[in-house]
Amino acid sequence: MNILVTGGTGYVGSHTCVELLNKNHSVIIVDNLINSKIETIDKIIQITNKNISFYQIDVTDEYALDQIFINHKIDGVIHFAGLKAVGESVELPLTYYYNNLVSTMILSKLCLKYNVNKFVFSSSATVYGDNKVPFVEDMDLLPTTNPYGETKAMSERILLDVAKANPNFSVSLLRYFNPVGAHESGLIGEAPNGIPNNLLPYVTQVAKGKLKQLRVFGNDYDTVDGTGVRDYIHVVDLAEGHVKAIEKLTEGVKIYNLGTGKGTSVLQLVQAFEKANNIKVPYEIVNRRPGDIASFYADASKAERELGWKAKKSILDMCKDAWRFEKNYKDK
Ligand code: NAD
Ligand code: UFG
Repeated sequence: MNILVTGGTGYVGSHTCVELLNKNHSVIIVDNLINSKIETIDKIIQITNKNISFYQIDVTDEYALDQIFINHKIDGVIHFAGLKAVGESVELPLTYYYNNLVSTMILSKLCLKYNVNKFVFSSSATVYGDNKVPFVEDMDLLPTTNPYGETKAMSERILLDVAKANPNFSVSLLRYFNPVGAHESGLIGEAPNGIPNNLLPYVTQVAKGKLKQLRVFGNDYDTVDGTGVRDYIHVVDLAEGHVKAIEKLTEGVKIYNLGTGKGTSVLQLVQAFEKANNIKVPYEIVNRRPGDIASFYADASKAERELGWKAKKSILDMCKDAWRFEKNYKDK
């Protein structure tokens, strides 16, 4: 298939492009590079030895995007492009609502215009809010605590309605749990701007000496050791989930959790990182982070049943691969 990948130079998008190319699909990437680097294109080519088309375009620019649909025969779209910093979304709600919702609306409008019937969307476990764990796809969604989370819930709603009104348009809503790790080549991975918000990128920067010590946000939750529990999933497993989702998408709307089904606490992750890489990660316990919930993880059985997809990589793989990328990565 010829697949249009928005946000394809970003973290999850770049790994997905590699897996798509490995399965002999062609990719056309559009990205405005607001949170990624042009060098990623060369890295994807280096890993796969395949060619790709790249356009530096904002997905909210309907005219520019229309030209891509005119100039390429597109069989399906995977829509990663979006802003994702939870804290920033609280400070800049309009920026987040505009970027994340308008991009989804324009892209789906052009799909309908050019008869492109496969649409895969990057959603998030955040749409479950404070539901009981494990999260299952048919649960009612609960309010999230920030505008970023709301853009995911609203985008899901928009795509459900578009699909309902256009029976040929099929949609896969993929709810990611906590993507971590990097490609085993060490060439692509997660390189957040500024101080990382997420746990594993923070840990790798402490290990590298860029940051002094990890702050563990709370050790008084009702969890195995009092620290927050999440379902960490290796980004390459996640990428393979996208390949399966678009290959198997034939009709209607499908919703899948992409997680491992296993919870890991903050301290368990720190210990795994130390063991995998033989390196100490100093930490201190501080207050809980506002908006955090104690524990969440996926019921990942639906994706296994219907897509034949299951996460394979372990927490140790995630820690090793994240560290290899961090060691190789040169800040520019
Ligand atoms: P990322 O920031 O690395 O990648 C997103 C890419 O989209 C970036 O390259 C950015 O430059 C681009 N982009 C943003 N707005 C754009 C626009 N208007 N036009 C064109 N390009 C634009 O993020 P990621 O971690 O790869 O996440 C990919 C998607 O998955 C996002 O939609 C994100 O919300 C979602 N998601 C991520 C996580 C996570 O923890 N990484 C979890 C759940 C869902
Ligand atoms: N944590 C720390 N110290 C840090 C960073 C995080 O102790 O410096 C803890 C958090 O309190 C939490 C756990 O590590 O218990 C994981 O935190 P992350 O920030 O890595 O991930 P979250 O689960 O909070 O959120 C992430 C994304 C959201 C997304 C959600 C579900 O940032 O956008 O996963 O996919 F919605």
